Amino acid sequence: MTAFDSPYKALVIGASGSIGAAFLKRLQEDSLCQTVIAMARSSSHADVISIHLESEESIQKAALAVKEHGPFDLIVVATGVLHGDGFMPEKRLADIDMKVLQETFMANTFGPALLLKHFVPLISTRGVMALISAKVGSIEDNRLGGWYSYRASKAALNMLIKTASIELRRQKPEALVVAIHPGTVISDLSKPFAGGANARPADIAAEEMLATIQSLGGKDSGQFFTYDGHLLPW
Ligand SMILES: NC(=O)c1ccc[n+]([C@@H]2O[C@H](COP(=O)([O-])OP(=O)(O)OC[C@H]3O[C@@H](n4cnc5c(N)ncnc54)[C@H](OP(=O)(O)O)[C@@H]3O)[C@@H](O)[C@H]2O)c1
Repeated sequence: MTAFDSPYKALVIGASGSIGAAFLKRLQEDSLCQTVIAMARSSSHADVISIHLESEESIQKAALAVKEHGPFDLIVVATGVLHGDGFMPEKRLADIDMKVLQETFMANTFGPALLLKHFVPLISTRGVMALISAKVGSIEDNRLGGWYSYRASKAALNMLIKTASIELRRQKPEALVVAIHPGTVISDLSKPFAGGANARPADIAAEEMLATIQSLGGKDSGQFFTYDGHLLPW
């Protein structure tokens, strides 16, 4: 029996993005999902809790604001950047730029490290915190090169997830922290790159990832999964 066989509580961080919004909608539609709380940097909805990954104060405040509604059986982290104001992923070493490295690591690694710090304590005894990583963060799977900042920021995120899972196991042996690759999904993040044929709608990706997450057990903590439940090498 998993935490999802009976009424469960969920939290989606990054609910303004394509994948985050799709998770939120899917969870809102699930009759077993008793509560689902949304967090985002920007939202027009009053019930969305504000969270800025650059600020530990904002992350701590958001965690405190939902603590009384927890513990949570599912926490999804769907934030991340690949390109930004005036920058695209690097094609070669000569493109590496300190500002781009900092901005990418801030969103993909440093912010999520603080999310782990403040939200892992809110996971229920058999709950799951699933952070959306990326297959290109796999060191072993890196065949094409390029995208230095993004690849490295996701590889470092994966290490944070693995390390947090070891600490969590000592406190809540049946709870999980996992990294999950969503596949290629239609979103602002993938728009400049994803060849139309490969990218799929976020609602399908969220459905697949949710099924995978809900099928996991304590032994799966600290692993890196594809959206459809296959293990990825680090
Ligand atoms: N799409 C793909 O094909 C693909 C493939 C592999 C991995 N991924 C991963 O999937 C995750 C979700 O991506 P997506 O495709 O859904 O992209 P998206 O639509 O661009 O969503 C990105 C989300 O991250 C939030 N965010 C970025 N920086 C933030 C910050 N500093 N503070 C708070 N929130 C911040 C954005 O908030 P705003 O709405 O305020 O900008 C938005 O909610 C990312 O981790 C990405 O690396 C995506």
